[in-house]
Amino acid sequence: MAESIKLLKKDFASDPSTSKFKFFEYGEEKTGFALFYKGSYYVYKNQCQHLPVELDWVDNNFLEDEGSFIICATHGAIYEPTSGLCVSGPCKGSSLKSMSFTMTKSEIVVTL
Ligand code: FES
Repeated sequence: MAESIKLLKKDFASDPSTSKFKFFEYGEEKTGFALFYKGSYYVYKNQCQHLPVELDWVDNNFLEDEGSFIICATHGAIYEPTSGLCVSGPCKGSSLKSMSFTMTKSEIVVTL
């Protein structure tokens, strides 16, 4: 049975909002985040497509000021929330890695 991470929907206090989590991949600790945006959920690995760094300098701070885009704190790459596509910045045209998940009434269940 595949490992999973469960996030509570009630922890997404506003729309948009995010929830960061840790997971292991090939024995290495990584992070990901779930995004609640315009009534839907999205889950991405927390890795910029420009350099192998996390997107957030301030923990769980993934959105630019207006909350319309995901932003990388290092060099300001801008990603579309719904597709993960980088639309501006040094990695324009590449996409965040999405993670598969299912939902229950109260949880987001990320499959590892
Ligand atoms: S590391 Fe993210 S834009 Fe450069």
